[in-house]
Amino acid sequence: MTTLRILRAAAWADEVAAAFVERLQATPSLRVCLPTGATPIPAYDALAARIERGDASFAQATVILLDEWVGLPPGDPARCDTRLRAQLLDRLQVAPAAVHTIEVDAPDLDAAAERHAACSLDLDLVVLGLGMNGHVGFNEPGSFPDSPTRVVRLAASSRESAMARYGAATVPTAGFTLGMDRILAAREVWLLVTGERKAPILRRALRDPEGPDCPASYLRRHGGLTVFADQEAAALLG
Ligand code: F6R
Repeated sequence: MTTLRILRAAAWADEVAAAFVERLQATPSLRVCLPTGATPIPAYDALAARIERGDASFAQATVILLDEWVGLPPGDPARCDTRLRAQLLDRLQVAPAAVHTIEVDAPDLDAAAERHAACSLDLDLVVLGLGMNGHVGFNEPGSFPDSPTRVVRLAASSRESAMARYGAATVPTAGFTLGMDRILAAREVWLLVTGERKAPILRRALRDPEGPDCPASYLRRHGGLTVFADQEAAALLG
């Protein structure tokens, strides 16, 4: 079943944070996979504020990174691990051992993908943003429900956006993503979508027949999908 929560833009971040706190209170040992990108930033800010004031704790939780650029050095400002730490984790006091970043610096990336897939079994919650082309994580168009955790080739525009949007020192060579198979196997999936520019692709993902041109459309087959959309992003859902 898909739950659609359409929220006022001003309330969106706090509603997402409140829902997250509820999950943590219910399951302190939550195993959660988190994205980066622009969409979650205000929700992470609101969540960190709630954790700082003691509404819930990440002390027993495990955080797993959704995706990562390949070819950027550790500490690069555009790396997803750098960004997630700065935007959320550094404020939460998560034990370092409870954060599973992606081993994109390992010599054997296929083995690293197998390890990331293994640590992403038994996820309670996967949080996703929605790409303008319908991607989730780096599961780009052409991905299927059984697409595994893997290294993916990225369009030149995606690679260059790492530099333009996030200030990468060099152009990444590829992407590394949790597979659609692991996303769909999680107990719960949240899709975070804001802004009117996402309205057409959100409509495509939720209202048209599912298909590999829009990997996000496969999320509808998950029994526990919640879409947190602001009114602008939901404008074309009818
Ligand atoms: C980021 C990620 C991407 C983004 C998507 C939307 O870790 O997995 O799939 O969620 O590209 O990005 P924003 O939120 O910047 O519009």
